Amino acid sequence: MQKVLIIDFGSQTVQLIAKTVRQHHIYCEIMPHYASFNKIKEYSPSAIIFSGGNNSCYEASSPTIDKAVFDLGVPILGICYGFQLMSHLLGGTVTPSQKGEFGKTEVVLVGKSQLFEGVDDKFDVTMSHFDSVTTLPTEFTLTSSTANCKYASAECLSKKLFGIQFHPEVTSQFGQIILGNFLYKIAGLAGDWSLGEFVKSTVEQIKQRVGNKRVLCAFSGGVDSAVSAMLVHQAVGDNLFCIYVDHGFMRQNETEEVLQIFKQEKGLNLIAVDAKEHFMSKLKGVTEPERKRKIIGEEFIRVFEKEAKKLGNISFLVQGTIYPDVIESGSGSGEVIKTHHNVGGLPSVMDFEGLIEPVRCLFKDEVRSVGLELNIPMQIINRQPFPGPGLAVRIIGELTQEKVDIVRQADHIFRQEMQESKVENVWQYFAVLPDVLSTGVMGDKRTYAHTVALRAVCSVDAMTAEWAHIPYDVLERTSQKITNNIRGVNRVVYDITSKPPATIEWE
Ligand code: XMP
Repeated sequence: MQKVLIIDFGSQTVQLIAKTVRQHHIYCEIMPHYASFNKIKEYSPSAIIFSGGNNSCYEASSPTIDKAVFDLGVPILGICYGFQLMSHLLGGTVTPSQKGEFGKTEVVLVGKSQLFEGVDDKFDVTMSHFDSVTTLPTEFTLTSSTANCKYASAECLSKKLFGIQFHPEVTSQFGQIILGNFLYKIAGLAGDWSLGEFVKSTVEQIKQRVGNKRVLCAFSGGVDSAVSAMLVHQAVGDNLFCIYVDHGFMRQNETEEVLQIFKQEKGLNLIAVDAKEHFMSKLKGVTEPERKRKIIGEEFIRVFEKEAKKLGNISFLVQGTIYPDVIESGSGSGEVIKTHHNVGGLPSVMDFEGLIEPVRCLFKDEVRSVGLELNIPMQIINRQPFPGPGLAVRIIGELTQEKVDIVRQADHIFRQEMQESKVENVWQYFAVLPDVLSTGVMGDKRTYAHTVALRAVCSVDAMTAEWAHIPYDVLERTSQKITNNIRGVNRVVYDITSKPPATIEWE
């Protein structure tokens, strides 16, 4: 398979570069800039792209790369910092500019370049830089300029090295064409990678690896674990055992729906464990959010292990890891805001011959497309993100069955109302029980009852989020339905905080 390697120099848009390459039907992976030269060579890429980055390449502590990469004979495209670093390492100069360039900027082509075939002589690009290349390495020729940046792009044809100061990966006039020219015309790639092919080859690889052995999967019914399980199921059939743990904090009808689809319709060997009472007893008296999350994570492992032991003789474990998890876990460590509980990635304590992560190289939208190829129903494919500990982290303070029931019903009413009103472009919406009682009046009687908070956010990757400006009439109807139908609730509020400073979930 032809593969493109993207070297990440700390770019905000590195995943966008990867997605654009894949949209051209070419498989690619991202490696951090500190990957060794041997690792890069072993990967055997057909082309390499250097990403942008926010450092100055002439400073000693800035990300760099072994110069031997330029002698691999593989075409390289340097974007922004990538272009500057390429120039710097090959004998050119990079200096801070008098004026930076940010946002939409006009580029004028100089001479002819294969990289710009099919592109107008003048066009708008997205720039974001203070530093610029000010002298080119020998053998490089100028191919475009802007008013403030003489070397907006340059190339060394004999070595197939190309550099552009602007960002073709962000939505722009000719960005797709320029990257396409690099991939198809310069690197000569065929563009024959497709998700259909991916399904076929992945199933085949799993078959070869597993043979007649038995495989276990922690199955949450979310799109990542569902697609992973269905791929493994195609390869090993009844030798796959999926365990679905109902900890009692699932959404309305969720367990029934998951069992109906995957057990009845898709024929998965799906074992549903009703552990509601077990979880509730372990959480009695617990109010601290991180302790709640840890207990749920740990108890999940215990229940899972117990079931696995009953089955016995399991050689492989399936995990629904996706590519952003792989990239993120490879790049430094940030402050722990919340201990995320994922059903994948848990049983490190168990003894398996190996892990199977069928979608570890795919982005979320690609996982969804594979889900469509596998005929997984839309309600699963388009499911909103749902935290592993479920509704438990949407109830502040101690959990009781009454509170779980209230938040589940409120969540159901809100989700139904949003769907019926066709509110679009909202990343996630749900109800929270802040454990606040307040005075109300219902049927001429004083009440002292629960407040439900509604939360709806717009986001791209959940790292940041804006509170969603959903229509007042939708909020009004939701509020009325909640107070009319759920006993013990006399007040509904809407959360108008973005992330940061808040997080999406309340705990
Ligand atoms: P926060 O609350 O950290 O949430 O802003 C970001 C996104 O992650 C989801 N989330 C989780 N997902 N296990 C998960 O698999 C968890 O423990 C967990 N906690 C939060 C949250 O719903 C949002 O989409």
